[in-house]
Amino acid sequence: MTMNVLVAYATKNGSTASIARMIAEALDEQGLRAEARPAAEVADAGAYDAVILGSALYANRWLREARQFARHHQSELDARPVWLFSSGPLDASAGERDIPPVPGAARAATLLDAREHVTFGGRLEEGARGFIARMIVKQGRGGDFRDMERIRAWARGIAKEISEGAGPAPPT
Ligand SMILES: Cc1cc2nc3c(=O)[nH]c(=O)nc-3n(C[C@H](O)[C@H](O)[C@H](O)COP(=O)(O)O)c2cc1C
Repeated sequence: MTMNVLVAYATKNGSTASIARMIAEALDEQGLRAEARPAAEVADAGAYDAVILGSALYANRWLREARQFARHHQSELDARPVWLFSSGPLDASAGERDIPPVPGAARAATLLDAREHVTFGGRLEEGARGFIARMIVKQGRGGDFRDMERIRAWARGIAKEISEGAGPAPPT
């Protein structure tokens, strides 16, 4: 049976969406059926066998759509394996050390009993929305710090866990 996986994301400038799509592609390559969708557009998370939820980081916070997703879908996901990711740092730090979840991500991890949380490097480039974002880019502090290989490797690890039956233990 093909397992259906949702990769739900919250983004302002699109790079978290692109990470979600990379994850979904990597899962597809491993024989799962994965779909990347904006977190706010998901009506029934319980329709999937497993869920990955990610958010961009802004001012050390998860975006509202991702926090709401965790609250709204908590009961549907009660019996589903869940993984979380954050995307943010505009430097190499995410690949060099384990960056702990910001408070909203930590709450989501507790609510959804997530198996893991990981932080990936982010991207901020010309055309980003918001005054501060444009200032960061203008000052040369933006750039693309997404590590495709690390993202794909993480997804492959999840695919393996799902395929090996990461689901909840059957009722006794
Ligand atoms: C105003 C602003 C605040 C940010 N705050 C953080 C932060 O607290 N932590 C972090 O790691 N990255 C921070 N970033 C970087 C973004 O998380 C990064 O650009 C991310 O890839 C944006 O994702 P998106 O394109 O999906 O919106 C910030 C960027 C901006 C413009």
